[in-house]
Amino acid sequence: MVTKRLKAIADLVPHNVSVIDIGTDHAYLPIYLYQKNITKNIAASDISPKVLASSLENLKKYYLDTQIPLILSNGFDNITKQYDVAIIAGMGTHTIKSILSNPNIPDTLIIQSNNDHYELRLFLNSLNYKIKKEIAIKDKKHYYVIIMYQKGKETLTKSELLFGKSANLEYYNYLLNKYQNIYNKSHNAKYLEYINILKSIIEKIPDC
Ligand SMILES: C[S@@+](CC[C@H](N)C(=O)[O-])C[C@H]1O[C@@H](n2cnc3c(N)ncnc32)[C@H](O)[C@@H]1O
Repeated sequence: MVTKRLKAIADLVPHNVSVIDIGTDHAYLPIYLYQKNITKNIAASDISPKVLASSLENLKKYYLDTQIPLILSNGFDNITKQYDVAIIAGMGTHTIKSILSNPNIPDTLIIQSNNDHYELRLFLNSLNYKIKKEIAIKDKKHYYVIIMYQKGKETLTKSELLFGKSANLEYYNYLLNKYQNIYNKSHNAKYLEYINILKSIIEKIPDC
């Protein structure tokens, strides 16, 4: 039920804080957080009534339908309570940006976007959120980047905006290989720059 990706997100959640899972879909993550005693103060929301109907069935299976409130909401529009942490995972950066364009977002955010991490990091930086922890994990065939943000200012280098702060050597080697292949076909100077940045990131990661 809980994939490696969802477990990695759950591992970032501080214990006993209040959490809202925006775009919960199946509600697997809230169920896991509750069952593992990470927090019992968790609500789940989704934009789709149909999705929430099936989330409710899942909650009922684990007798958690009275413990985990389900809220029908486009992003934070109908979220009236203040939460310590919001999780926004499994969506694209465009949707995540629109969800975060709300004055009531919590000071701690755990975000896993499926694409355009450069745009995501740039946007969160412009909202005055700083990266507290970033990880890249491989789940089946895909790498996922999960970023924990905390309210606060930081200056990010171009390298950090493009490729983050995960320090995952395998992930950076995967990206290097990907951009080398793209560059070999396109000879686009942008990819040569990516290659050089990735080489310099890789050089700095201790090889253990
Ligand atoms: C691919 S699922 C991801 C589910 C889960 N968060 C995960 O990471 O496995 C995306 C979910 O986000 C919901 N969603 C999309 N846009 C949304 C929005 N603006 N506000 C709330 N939920 C949204 C969709 O209905 C869908 O259930």
